[in-house]
Amino acid sequence: MATNWQQLRAELPQLVEQSRVIAEEGEVATYIPGLANSPKDALGISIFDIKGERITIGDCGIGFTMQSISKVFSLLLALMDSGEERVFEKVGMEPTGDDFNSMLKLELVDPGKPFNPFINAGAIVIASLIAGETPAVKSARMLDFIRKLAKDNSIGWNEDVYSSERDTANRNRSLAYFLVDNGILEEDVEETLEVYFRQCAIQVSCANLAQMGLLLANNGFDTETGEQVIPRHFVQIVKSFMVTCGMYNASGEFAIQVGIPAKSGVSGGILAIVPGQMGIGVVGPALNNKGNSVAGVHLLARLSEQYDWSMF
Ligand code: DON
Repeated sequence: MATNWQQLRAELPQLVEQSRVIAEEGEVATYIPGLANSPKDALGISIFDIKGERITIGDCGIGFTMQSISKVFSLLLALMDSGEERVFEKVGMEPTGDDFNSMLKLELVDPGKPFNPFINAGAIVIASLIAGETPAVKSARMLDFIRKLAKDNSIGWNEDVYSSERDTANRNRSLAYFLVDNGILEEDVEETLEVYFRQCAIQVSCANLAQMGLLLANNGFDTETGEQVIPRHFVQIVKSFMVTCGMYNASGEFAIQVGIPAKSGVSGGILAIVPGQMGIGVVGPALNNKGNSVAGVHLLARLSEQYDWSMF
């Protein structure tokens, strides 16, 4: 059912304020020191419609780093650069039920390949499948890709978040060395991690996420020019992962409560799409114990219920 935009514009301010209160229940991520000062009770949302309607409301002025939301786009770039066969030689297609940075299944399940490209282990391998002679070239290609999809050439890296993650990432370093030992990661660990940390440190706004989401909602076609920017089949792949693994081991709960493809990041961002209709960007830095924006998830659940967005 098409969303009633007049009603949405009228109701959204109040819905945002009601969800903002829920931020109290969450905590800002501190394991990456550069994220620790994020505004805990901030909440903002941008919604871009395929027909050209747009709304941006709440604390959307704040920039935030993509973190795990970048995994959607690194997967797309790796699929376009290295092909589907190579990508799925290296990562699986199944949810884990474990934390996003868990090492558990790499040891438990033969052949030690990450269950999916959205857990940290999977995304580290995916970073190694982005084309480019050096980490700097790969990272620049990834940034250019984001700029192109978001239609915003001012997007850049947050250097503080990048270096604070690089300097403290013992867990990700362990995962990467484990993957080398398992014969899954074939590139240099530090060089691969540089690409991964840089993609996580790309700084965006809610509107940037909504614009990128719009492209996915429209199956990879630019809504203004009609150009096919991403092959439709690759968009189908990432949308499937967003439903099954996008909110980590809260993906099942999110499917029941909201029912749309989404991807979260520890900075409190959420990219969501209503297929065929809308791209949505949310920021709310206070996280629940699964690593998802507590107020952001609450707001999306209210909106989905009110406007009948669930795919199911
Ligand atoms: O590798 C990390 O831990 C972070 N750069 C990204 C993790 C993340 O965003 C998980 N999301 N909820």
